[in-house]
This record gives sequence, C-alpha cells and structure tokens, in this order.
Amino acid sequence: MNVEKIKSFIVMDILERSLEIQKHGVEIIHLEIGEPDLPTPKKALDRVPEILSKYKMSYTPSLGITSLREAISEYYLKEYGVEVPVKNIVAVPGSSTGMALIISILLDKGGEFIITDPSYPCYPNFILHSGGEVVRLNIYKDNNFLPEIDKLRDLVNQKTRGLIIASPSNPCGVVLPQKLVEEILEIGIPTIIDEIYQGIVFGIPKKESSAIKYFSADGNLIISNGFSKYFSMPGWRVGWLVVPDRYIPALQKLLQNIVISTPTLSQMLAEICMRECINELDEYVSIYKKRLETATNFLNNSGLELGYKVNGAFYIYLDLSNFINDSLEFSRKMLEEYSVALTPGLDFGTNQTNKFIRISLTNSEGNILTGLERLLNAIYDYNPSPRSI
Ligand SMILES: Cc1ncc(COP(=O)(O)O)c(C=O)c1O
Repeated sequence: MNVEKIKSFIVMDILERSLEIQKHGVEIIHLEIGEPDLPTPKKALDRVPEILSKYKMSYTPSLGITSLREAISEYYLKEYGVEVPVKNIVAVPGSSTGMALIISILLDKGGEFIITDPSYPCYPNFILHSGGEVVRLNIYKDNNFLPEIDKLRDLVNQKTRGLIIASPSNPCGVVLPQKLVEEILEIGIPTIIDEIYQGIVFGIPKKESSAIKYFSADGNLIISNGFSKYFSMPGWRVGWLVVPDRYIPALQKLLQNIVISTPTLSQMLAEICMRECINELDEYVSIYKKRLETATNFLNNSGLELGYKVNGAFYIYLDLSNFINDSLEFSRKMLEEYSVALTPGLDFGTNQTNKFIRISLTNSEGNILTGLERLLNAIYDYNPSPRSI
C-alpha cells in the first residue's frame, strides 16, 4: 500500500498542538503557518452575495470556468508579458491537487521523480502515493539553496520521470534565476515548477521571476500555481496548472472522476481577485517585504545572519547548526516552553534539516520580533556559551 509510506505533515502537528495549548489560555506566537495572515481582498469578498443571487452553484467544466482560464491567460500577458494559450491552462481545487494529479500521470508506469532537499514536505508524498521513487537533490545555503546543475544531471537516468522544484521556494524563499531554469529545461525531462509563491518577490522584476516564458505547448515545462499565497485565498481552494497539450486528456479524465470540478464560487471569486485586485495584492507584497527586512535586521544584529539571500515567498530558513541538532525537539521546546510555534527543518527533508528551522513571516512585525527575541533566549538558555553569538 503506497499510503503506508506517507508521512504526516509535521507543521500541521505543531499547529494542532499549539491550538490545544491555546485552549488553556496560553498565547502562542505563530511563526509556523504557511498561509497569508492578510485577508482575501475585500473588493472580491463584497461580491459574494451578488454572485450567489445571480448564479446557481452548479458543477463547472472539469478543466475550469472558461472566463477564469481566460483571466489567467490575460494575467500572464499583462503582468509577465507572455502569451499562454487558454487551452493549456487548467483550474484545479488547490495547486496540491493539480500537482498530485500531474505527478500521477507522469508516474503512470512507475519510475523516479527528483525533488530538492530541503523542499515542500508534500512532494515526496505525492510521488510515493503514485508509486514512484523519490530521488533527492541536496541544496545548500552556500549555493543560496539553488540546485547545482551538474549534480542534477547526474541524477537523471532511464527511470527518471520528472523533476519538481519550487520558485520562490519553500522553506528557503529563493527564486530560480532564469539562466538556471534554462539549464534545467535543457536536460529534457518533464519539469514541474511550483510557482505557488509567484508574485511575492522582492527586488526582482515580476517578469524575471517566473518560468512562464519558457512554456510551450509541446515542451517539457509544467507550471503549477494557485490563489493561496499571493492572492490570499488559501481556504477557497483554487489553483491552476499550465500544461503541455499531451497531458491534457489524461488530466481531464482524472479531474472528471476525482473532483468533478473546482468549487464554483471559489473560481468566480478567484477571477475577480485576478482581474481587479492586483494593486491591493501588491500592497500585501510590500508588507511581507518590510517584515522580511525587520526580521533579517534583528537576526543580523543578534549574530544570527541568514547567510543566503531570500528574494521571495514569506519564509526564512534559519541555520541553527551552532546550537541545535534535533530541529523537531527544538521546535517542541519553543512551543511548550517559549510559546512560539516554528516549523522544524525536519519537515522539509533529510539534508541537514535537523539544524534548521523555518520562520514564517505571516504575522505582524511586532509578533515576529517577540518570537525572534524568545528564539534568542531559547538559544542562550540551551547553550550557556554559544559559539557564535
Ligand atoms: C511550495 C508549496 N506548494 C504548494 C502548496 C499548496 O498550495 P495550495 O493551497 O494551492 O494547495 C504550498 C502550501 O503551503 C507550498 O508551500
């Protein structure tokens, strides 16, 4: 049974435990949550009553409402200067579903699938669930948590069915440079670029922060994206895939059978957000940027330099190798004794992950600073004479 191989998502365990502690009146600072704290744009929410009075909430076509798929195509043209055919854009109930389905298609006859380590915890589980084997490409802080192309090439063989890589990444918050995307695509294997944090980028023009310009209807690039992060609509469960022609019939069949369609109201609201709320959403990006600056300044002044450059998403992947060697135990201590919820590096793979923690900047600047002060105290308490601070 493939399900037996699937591990639980540790961050969800931390979240559940912190909610339990909160029930006893203890206030927890949440720096573990991987979803925006900023609300779905009001302009879109205000339209819900009108939508509900006008439209019956019927199933939609399995590939998505045409006007939403058109809106996504127009968005790519307007924001990224790239023409993407509507026929290659498929709406899905959250990008998680889209990635799980496309990976199952690529692994139809088994084989290996490459992920980076660290990376998003669900990738190996999508692969295992589809009967594939997970192949890990270790990435390191010294190389800004970017894959080394020669090492990637060395992992590719007859059994390789694809690669999945995020940009901006989770847990590191790093955008793949365009040249690296080109080199990866030159390898010639199906490549899923998970752009769920697309739009939340700092100091890079939007046009240079997406791989979408490399998409072609007969190529190897698949883009996964959605409305959960930049668009601040996580619970509405809408995502999309940009897929080459050859995968669409299989994807359509799977969507028809497994989900029928993506929630109707959610698709309609997503379209409004995409067409009408970009200015407001770009304001949100400025908020994340300010939080990142505040957090990095604090860490630098405390002798806990990041040692790499975050240029997207809303995470910091902090190297605590001078102080800890069990990130899960440390996160549990932070929660139980310092009332701060963090995600242990362990959630993201096996490559030095016991030495890292992920800090999510989805909380106010004040709370982020309080959380970081407590983190510093914890380090002092557990390391009376820490080596580098
Ligand atoms: C890298 C990455 N990909 C995908 C997802 C899932 O997003 P969705 O809400 O679209 O399923 C997440 C959620 O945290 C993520 O961090």
